Parts: sequence; structure tokens; C-alpha cells
Amino acid sequence: MKDIITIDGPSGAGKSTVSKLLAQKLGYKYLDTGALYRAVAWKIKEENGDPEDEKTLDHIIENIKITLNDDRVMVNGMDVTSKIRTPEIGELSSQVSALPIAREFLYTIQKEIGLKGNIVIEGRDIGSAIFPEAKHKFFLDASAEERGRRRLKELKQRNLETNLETTIEDIKTRDKRDSTRQASPLKRTKDMNYIDTTTLTLEEVVTKIMEALKTP
Ligand code: DC
Repeated sequence: MKDIITIDGPSGAGKSTVSKLLAQKLGYKYLDTGALYRAVAWKIKEENGDPEDEKTLDHIIENIKITLNDDRVMVNGMDVTSKIRTPEIGELSSQVSALPIAREFLYTIQKEIGLKGNIVIEGRDIGSAIFPEAKHKFFLDASAEERGRRRLKELKQRNLETNLETTIEDIKTRDKRDSTRQASPLKRTKDMNYIDTTTLTLEEVVTKIMEALKTP
């Protein structure tokens, strides 16, 4: 099997920044699976649908085409890259991701992309459900407060008004739903390499991962 590196963990643990830099250093591709859930959630919002209704989702799935071009996320030909990065879509995507039909639909897409190999894939269930057989699996974590601070910084850079308290609350709500849902919850398995990033810099996390990759 070609190399697949999986990086799972809760919101704001640094998965995206770490995975991008890691992929760049290794000359690998990078797949942000959260963007796929966010794309579906964005489409539901566009159509004023109910994110927890299976019928709405059936209809959306039949009519959606998600394309990932480098860093750009396209839905039916429309660039939604920044539109899917709002707290509202974050919350909606977490609701959508609890529905098995959404997970089944996105499972196939993730498999197709991942099986081409030499790729870093980040999400919630990549090492536990999508590519459990991957050789290198990591679980990134950080305290809820630190994850809240990171998320707030990111939102402020994009001029999205919010505060630390709300951001931490949002993160906790999402974590709870993502880890207690029935279908492929966020889960740390024994064979994942656990990294607490609370006090680490981006470079330090990537160095730790690169070190771990050297062990067979
Ligand atoms: O990583 P993110 O915040 O962009 O993900 C958005 C939501 O998508 C997250 O709250 C849970 C869901 N998700 C998932 O269930 N499984 C994945 N592999 C990736 C994301």
C-alpha cells in the first residue's frame, strides 16, 4: 500500500496547519476531510434545508459535486473556500456529520483520493474508520482553552466577530457531538501516536511527527 498518514483530533488541535506543513515537507498531497463535511453543510444552508433531516440530505447528495483543487473547495463549480470557514458552517457540518448517510457518501470520496497514496489526511475518523490500516496514525490534542484561543485568532484574521468565551463554548459543543455520535465518532485508538500540542509550536509538532515516521 502506498503511504497514508492519518491525523485525527478535535477542532482547533492544529490538524490543518500541521498536516499542510507535513505534506509540504514530505512532498505528499494533503486532504482536509472536514472541508468535505463543511461543503455538504454549506449546500444545505444554501437550500435552506434541515441539517438533521435525512430526506434533505438525500436530495443534496444526489445533486452535489465537490471538487478539491489544491487549496480551493468547489461545490458544483462554485468556489466556497472561505464561505465554509464560518462558525455557523462549522456547527452545521458537525450536525451533518452525525448522519450515517452523509458519512457513507463522503467515505467513497475519501477512499478514492486517499488510495492514490503518498498523502496526509486529516479528520476525525481517518485512522479509526477510513484508513485503519494506515501505517502512520496520529492523534493531535490540546486543551479546550488553547484550542479556543487558536480558533479565535483564525476567526479574527478573517474579520469574523466573536469572543473567546463563545469560541470555547462552540468548540466544546462540537467536540461533544463529534465524539458521542453513533456513526464513526472522533476516537483515539491505541495504535495512534498521541501528541498534546497545547504548549508546542507548529514546527515542534511537525518535528515530532517526522521523528515518529522514522520508526518502522
Ligand atoms: O475539521 P473541521 O472543523 O473542518 O470539521 C468540520 C466537522 O466535520 C466536524 O465538526 C466534524 C466533521 N468531521 C467528521 O465528522 N469526520 C471527519 N473526518 C472530518 C470532519
